[in-house]
Amino acid sequence: MHYSDELIEEIREKNDIVEVVSGYVKLQKKGSRYWGLCPFHNEKSPSFSVNGDLQVYHCFGCGAGGNLYTFVMNYENYSFPEAVKMLADRAGVQLPEQEDSREQRMQENKRSRLLAVNKEAAKFFYYQLRTPHGETGYQYLKKRELTDETMQRFGLGYAGKNGAVLVNYLRSKGFADEEIQEAGLANHSEKYGMVSQFWNRVMYPIQDINNRVIGFGGRVMGDGEPKYLNSPETPIFDKRRNLYGLNYARRARSSNIILCEGYMDVIAMHQAGFTQAVASLGTAFTSEQALLLKRYTDNVLLAYDSDGAGVKAALRGIGILREAGLAGKVINMQPYKDPDEFMKALGREAFEERIRQAENSFFFEIRILEGQFNMADPEEKTKFHREIAKKLCAFSEEVERDNYLTAVAEKYFIGAENLRKLVIGYAAGTGLARPAERPKSGVRPKNNPEENAKQAQRMLVTWIVNEPAVYGKIRRYISARDFTEELYRKVAERLFQELEQGSLRPAGIISMFENEEEQREAAALFSARLPGVENGPERDKAFRDILLAVKKNSYEYHVSRMGTDVDALSRAIEGKKALEELAKAHISLD
Ligand code: GTP
Ligand code: MN
Repeated sequence: MHYSDELIEEIREKNDIVEVVSGYVKLQKKGSRYWGLCPFHNEKSPSFSVNGDLQVYHCFGCGAGGNLYTFVMNYENYSFPEAVKMLADRAGVQLPEQEDSREQRMQENKRSRLLAVNKEAAKFFYYQLRTPHGETGYQYLKKRELTDETMQRFGLGYAGKNGAVLVNYLRSKGFADEEIQEAGLANHSEKYGMVSQFWNRVMYPIQDINNRVIGFGGRVMGDGEPKYLNSPETPIFDKRRNLYGLNYARRARSSNIILCEGYMDVIAMHQAGFTQAVASLGTAFTSEQALLLKRYTDNVLLAYDSDGAGVKAALRGIGILREAGLAGKVINMQPYKDPDEFMKALGREAFEERIRQAENSFFFEIRILEGQFNMADPEEKTKFHREIAKKLCAFSEEVERDNYLTAVAEKYFIGAENLRKLVIGYAAGTGLARPAERPKSGVRPKNNPEENAKQAQRMLVTWIVNEPAVYGKIRRYISARDFTEELYRKVAERLFQELEQGSLRPAGIISMFENEEEQREAAALFSARLPGVENGPERDKAFRDILLAVKKNSYEYHVSRMGTDVDALSRAIEGKKALEELAKAHISLD
């Protein structure tokens, strides 16, 4: 689907970025910008800024940034055409009907193609399961007590015995072998040609939060190895950033989200009515997934396997949740192995009860810890108490730490005062009353000439877009060539062109770049922190310093290039003249 640049701009202008972002992130106005907690990394104080005048956002903590489209694409995991569609709907803009001819489909960007091939494969597996060829798969799922309705809801399917059939089907739908391979659905070998690695397995399509199939898990029926075969990572399948079942769980209207280990656990839970269940994707739970959960709830319940490996995974998960600012709770599955078995044996109401009894993750950790010490031995017991003290130190807030201290002291019959002394002793010994704060990347300017030059260029652009009137006063001194970073130069070219024409649209400039990294950088250009000085001579000086720094860097850059670039000499001479002029000039911003 290809839309004209005018249409893209129209849709962007008819949506206000502050309004759209407010639908996802709580924003507060401070000065000319809006601030909130960044949805793209974990933080306690807001460094995510949205600029309503310029219609861009930028996070000073993690560097995320862009315009309305970038935001929606990143937050919703949309491709560009999908973001366009959503925002057009939102603004009531009618999109032109376009014939989806084969040529056009081939031109669509890669992400959409990969999504399309996955969707087609999901359809194929789905129909296979419901034909006589899929009987083994269907019987397997029936035996595991899944209803037809559940199979349908999760789009379960079957990959038959011949791995070439899928490939031929996808080819017949217009997909090239490279696309099928890149989607991780088949491999090419000399001996067999193109065949899918998925064969004789029941297939679980993995969907993102917007119900789009991004990969598959295939399970052997019975005891074969490997039990699960998952799609490899592809440009659309990021195992760290998606969760199985989240597309349904996000709409479950539940006060909690239940985190399970397996696909089958999620399916069994949903079938029993717990549609808030999710699972990670065949890999360990990640901090990105914790942040994803945090969008929807602050109450995560772990329903991991009750065996040793499950407990270990739960302890790990608790740590990750805590880092994301989520206090998890642990559901006791005993005497059953996992939620799937529990549900089959005891059913919904018994599980409800387990949810009510879910154990605070701190107490869970302490209880597991207790098992590692012999309490009959005074020395071991002391060690146990020291370990508790160490864990208590991880709470950075004093009130919280003290509440836990009192509770744990009571529970384990430790004198609260003694435990407090241990905590103080431990904190003093390590110099850590709380975990060390990690330096925020990107906030501190790096002290090197190149970074300083970039910083000056960013500040200049930010200043100009915030006060377009200054452009008139400096246009004789500055040109896009003074921006020595290629991306900055492209932005400056377009920016100055727009300023000359009197139509400034910074957010539109971001759309010039296709790649996300570039969009981020472009957004950072419009969002630099400016020196906070009042109008007057000091402010004039601050501006002049920035302008001089840009000019000086540009001059040095062109001088250094004189040997290789024929134009560089004349640019250097020009630059020198401009620099001298500028040094003498008086620029008043008022
Ligand atoms: P059932 O055994 O059918 O009940 O599946 P389950 O979903 O309960 O799986 P299990 O608890 O054994 O494993 C948890 C999750 O780990 C699975 O859902 C998969 O995502 C992943 N997993 C299990 N076995 C394998 C394997 O052999 N390979 C890979 N890549 N992932 C696996
Ligand atoms: Mn299981």
